[in-house]
Amino acid sequence: MNIKIEQRKRVVIITLNRPKALNALNSELMREMVSVMQKLDKDPSVGCFVITGSKKAFAAGADIKEMENKSYMDMFHEDYFAAWEAFTAIRTPKIAAVSGYALGGGCELAMMCDIIYASNTAKFGQPEIKLGVIPGIGGTQRLTKMVGKTKAMDLILTGRLMNAEEAERSGLVSRIIPVETLLEESVEAAAIIASYSKTTAMVAREAIDRAMELSLREGVLYERRAFHALFATEHQKEGMQAFVEKRKANFSIP
Ligand code: HXC
Repeated sequence: MNIKIEQRKRVVIITLNRPKALNALNSELMREMVSVMQKLDKDPSVGCFVITGSKKAFAAGADIKEMENKSYMDMFHEDYFAAWEAFTAIRTPKIAAVSGYALGGGCELAMMCDIIYASNTAKFGQPEIKLGVIPGIGGTQRLTKMVGKTKAMDLILTGRLMNAEEAERSGLVSRIIPVETLLEESVEAAAIIASYSKTTAMVAREAIDRAMELSLREGVLYERRAFHALFATEHQKEGMQAFVEKRKANFSIP
């Protein structure tokens, strides 16, 4: 296995584990990770994922050695990287806890998660231009939506790396956490998310993702319909009753 899996109550930690290759994301690793996550996605006892790497590297990119000798026809017929879409289709909330390098596909994997927490040692970049290619797993699109056109152009055209402070300032990262406590604090945040209704969290993240694609009017309408739909759940009844009865809500009901 190229990943390690650990469950702590309702949180599942997935650690990328190819240390000799700085966690370069080969097809086998992605297949393993997606297959584990697809099973757990349907498990009501799992409320949040934390995806992390090592102190030195979250992931230094897609595996250049795997790609190096591929032809256009190989890429086209394998629809190389299409499988990564399966990762974005996982509906359980996903936190990327990033320390060290998150480059190319590593940065793109972090951006496919719902939240990015970075250690003070994190370095983000899309250096594909140095390899004669461009980001191929959503980098030109997601990075632009997250940090804006001029910063995305700067990063992708120069291939330079961005430290944690700049990444937070730019809106790529939501919190900077000391490297020593990155995993613990990320798991704490994941445990808070996982303590709520999984259904509600799934609906909330889907609505936020719509903001990346829809006009304000369409997005607000989508949100309102999703809000209305939550009134068909026991979780809305329990959450609101618990407030009125001045007690803690129990979202472990199905
Ligand atoms: C395969 C990789 C790798 C990668 C590192 N390694 N990155 N193998 N794919 N993306 C391997 C190295 O070959 C080396 O193996 C080992 O990991 C350690 O790397 P070093 O370079 O010796 O470490 P260091 O000097 O500390 O430099 C770290 C680094 C550098 C700055 C992160 O490794 C680097 O620049 N990596 C490539 C980053 C990159 O270009 N990423 C984007 C990839 S393309 P050996 O066996 O030699 O010891 C991509 C998008 C694809 O992700 C979409 C377009 C098609």
